[in-house]
Amino acid sequence: MQNSPLILDGKVVAADVKNRLKDDIATLLSKNIVPGLTAILVGEDPASQVYVRSKERQAKKLGLHSDVIRLDAHSTQAELLAIIHQLNNDAKVHGILVQLPLPSHFDEDAVIEAINPEKDVDGFHPISVGRMQIGLDSFISCTPAGVLEILDYYKIVTSGKHVVVIGRSNIVGKPMANLLTRKGKRGDATVTVCHSRTPNMALFTRQADIIIAAVGVPELITADMIKDDVVIVDVGINRVGDAKLEKGYKLVGDVDYQSVLPKVKAITPVPGGVGVMTIAMLLSNTVKAAKKLSL
Ligand code: GUN
Repeated sequence: MQNSPLILDGKVVAADVKNRLKDDIATLLSKNIVPGLTAILVGEDPASQVYVRSKERQAKKLGLHSDVIRLDAHSTQAELLAIIHQLNNDAKVHGILVQLPLPSHFDEDAVIEAINPEKDVDGFHPISVGRMQIGLDSFISCTPAGVLEILDYYKIVTSGKHVVVIGRSNIVGKPMANLLTRKGKRGDATVTVCHSRTPNMALFTRQADIIIAAVGVPELITADMIKDDVVIVDVGINRVGDAKLEKGYKLVGDVDYQSVLPKVKAITPVPGGVGVMTIAMLLSNTVKAAKKLSL
């Protein structure tokens, strides 16, 4: 008989991360420096709207300055670049975040590159990515950073473990794999990266001590694809239609939670797992930026 699985509660870890920021924020405020985060939201994507509102609310709750610049979906690349340029030169703004995805007529790579790397609190700029890759201090993409915080908080050791990362996005999969293979605490893992072109993914997932699913396919990982006592971190947040619910949809992860639950050692729920960590890490990066730019 298996022990009941440990539920890795992102809300608890996010609260801990935010608590740990309070001393730094107090020090900054005592010098009349208010850490400032500006988000740019282009268009009306409902999920992005919810996300940006939540960022703003949580930043303000911690005593940070937060605002959102909203642009029409038909705005031009030149307009967006001009705003980024202005924010790059605004000393009150320590962190700049352009909410992705942008409408398809934008060149997303050029937009990210236009952000001053010292204000790149998303960790998406090539300078941030390159610095992370070779182990230098850098801003780290918030979702993979949040996954590491969860594992660390619950004392889940990665050293010597086989971690299977599912997904190869620039935002999650690639930085996740890089961070886990780094030397030292929270790293030292042997990492396999699977993605949409991996045939027979179960061949790999069944060998995993830890699975990190970040592929955006609802309930892809099922009980038959895992070994007993695996740790699962589910990064997916997928809306699937559910006529029984008033809003018409429910949120599910990339993992079939109910089917895997009896077999796992530990698992993050969706919602309430990794999703809540992303904003906590963004606030942490904003405080880090304010410290580096001001002190
Ligand atoms: N879209 C989905 N997640 C993110 C994120 O972490 N940062 C930005 N800028 N856009 C996103």
